[in-house]
Amino acid sequence: MVIILIAFGTLVIVSLLVSFNDLWRALFKIFFSEICNKIKSIFMSQTKEQRILDFVLQNATCGDPQSVLDNIDKYCRLKEWAMNVGDQKGLILDNIVKETDPSVVLELGTYCGYSSVRISRLLKPGARVFTVEMNSDYAAIAKKIIEFAGLKDKVQILEGSTSDIIPQLKKKFEVNTLDLVFVDHWKDKYKQDTQLLEKCSLLKRGSVVVADNVIVPGAPDFLEYVRTCGRYDCTNFPSFLEYMNEKDALERAIFRG
Ligand SMILES: C[S@@+](CC[C@H](N)C(=O)[O-])C[C@H]1O[C@@H](n2cnc3c(N)ncnc32)[C@H](O)[C@@H]1O
Repeated sequence: MVIILIAFGTLVIVSLLVSFNDLWRALFKIFFSEICNKIKSIFMSQTKEQRILDFVLQNATCGDPQSVLDNIDKYCRLKEWAMNVGDQKGLILDNIVKETDPSVVLELGTYCGYSSVRISRLLKPGARVFTVEMNSDYAAIAKKIIEFAGLKDKVQILEGSTSDIIPQLKKKFEVNTLDLVFVDHWKDKYKQDTQLLEKCSLLKRGSVVVADNVIVPGAPDFLEYVRTCGRYDCTNFPSFLEYMNEKDALERAIFRG
């Protein structure tokens, strides 16, 4: 009976995956893997993010950012999916960082610090990354990962919501304007926070705004805004969703001033 139920369940899942369009199939896969990860967390009394940190501490080389990235990618590809930008889109992000050669970077959405490590390892001396995270558990994990990678002098984690922190950047954190913004928090905030950056005069001519996950989960209102408002030159970089064989993309929007 159990075997019949498992076979039937598998058949239903497979037929759903085949019949879904790309977006729904990817979202379903994320949802399914997150449910499995949550169940694991209940049994282990430890969150997935703590398990990622433990894997890094046990396997990566202290002070070697690339080894930290490689080990996070390895864990998330082989053991538990997680919402880092990942190695494939990460290479595109690397190229954008190298081209831009920024002095001041703002990241919206730190999570475990993967992209903060990815960006900050490429920065010139004296350049810095401000990364905003509203979840204090994630911020604590990110702090340890960034320190372990040897990048704590380049990255400042700002704990709080982007809508509260962005307006404080000039006065409280002495930011004049931003050279690069990596937008990677909740997708319904992309457009609102990009407009907030403009309103707070944090963007200058040539500021580069890069947004992750513009296909999965997708940020259609942000894409429509940056592509049609006339203030940005946009380029789409097709790639794959982190640790999955599903289409995703980064959007680069360069502010015209
Ligand atoms: C996709 S993850 C970031 C991944 C990270 N950039 C990386 O690639 O390693 C999104 C993160 O944004 C945070 N977040 C979502 N909305 C936010 C907001 N309005 N303010 C601050 N953090 C937010 C979430 O808690 C989550 O940790």
